[in-house]
Amino acid sequence: MHPMLNIAVRAARTAGKVIVRACEQLDKVEIEAKGSNDFVTSVDIDAEQAIIDTIRKSYPEHTIIGEECGILKGENDDFQWIIDPLDGTTNFIKGIPHFAVSIALKVKGKLDQAVIYDPIRGELFTASRGKGAQLNNTRIRVQAHKNLSSTIIATGFPFKHKQHTEAYMKMFSSLFTKTSDMRRGGSAALDLAYVAAGRFDGFFEIGLKPWDTAAGELLVIEAGGLVTDFTGGHNHAKSGNIVASSTRLLKEILKDIRPHLGEALSK
Ligand code: IPD
Ligand code: CA
Ligand code: CA
Repeated sequence: MHPMLNIAVRAARTAGKVIVRACEQLDKVEIEAKGSNDFVTSVDIDAEQAIIDTIRKSYPEHTIIGEECGILKGENDDFQWIIDPLDGTTNFIKGIPHFAVSIALKVKGKLDQAVIYDPIRGELFTASRGKGAQLNNTRIRVQAHKNLSSTIIATGFPFKHKQHTEAYMKMFSSLFTKTSDMRRGGSAALDLAYVAAGRFDGFFEIGLKPWDTAAGELLVIEAGGLVTDFTGGHNHAKSGNIVASSTRLLKEILKDIRPHLGEALSK
C-alpha cells in the first residue's frame, strides 16, 4: 500500500472509533446549526482533529482542507488532504447508522489517494491513482449498464439549496420512470463508494462540496467509471453538481438531467 494511503487509512480508522464511541451516547453529543439544514456536532470536530493529528504526525508540511477546520495551509501546498470527518451528519444525529469518514489526497492538483470508511459496517473503500479501487482489499468495479432499465440510481435531495427543488424534481422524475428504483442514503461519500463497488449504478446531486466528493471521485474513476458535472464537463469540483456512473450509463443519465438545467445548474 502507498505510504500516504496507509496514513489516510490509519486516520480514517481513528476517526471511525471516535464516531462509533459517540454513537453509544448520542444524547451527550452537542449539535449546532451552521447553516440552513446544515448541522455540525462535537463529534465532527473531534473526528476531524483525530484525522489532522494523524496526518500531521507523518506529513507536518502538507496542506489540509477540512469541512470544519477550513484550509490549514502547509509549507508544501503541492500535497493537499481533503477531509470530511463525518459525511452523513444528519443520519448520525438521528441514530441512522449510515455515514462515513472521507479522506482524499491531491498531489499537484490531481487526486492521488482516497479512503472512504464506514465504521458501522467496517467497510474500507480505498483507491490509489492508476492502481484501481478496493473494498476491504478486494478489487471493485463500476457496473457497466447500457441503459437505465434495471438500474438503481442514488441521489441526494437539494435540502441545502431548496431554490433548485423544481429543477431537481424534474430530473428525478425523468430518471425514476426509466430506472428500477432510486436511493437517497444521506451520505454522498458512501453513494460514490457504492457506485465504485457496483452496488449503485449511478449517482447525481446538486451543490456538493469538495470534501463530500474528492475521495469518492477517485474511487469511481479507479473502479473504471466516470465523474462529470451536469453538462458532461469537468467543473464538478467547483460547481458541486456531480454525476457518477459507468461511461456509457452516464450519457443516458445526462439525457434526463440536461433538459432541466437553468443557467444556475449548467455547470
Ligand atoms: C452531506 C451528505 C448528504 C448530502 C449533503 C452533504 P455532511 O454531508 O453527504 O448525503 O446530500 O449534500 O452535505 O454535511 O453530512 O457532511
Ligand atoms: Ca459531507
Ligand atoms: Ca461532514
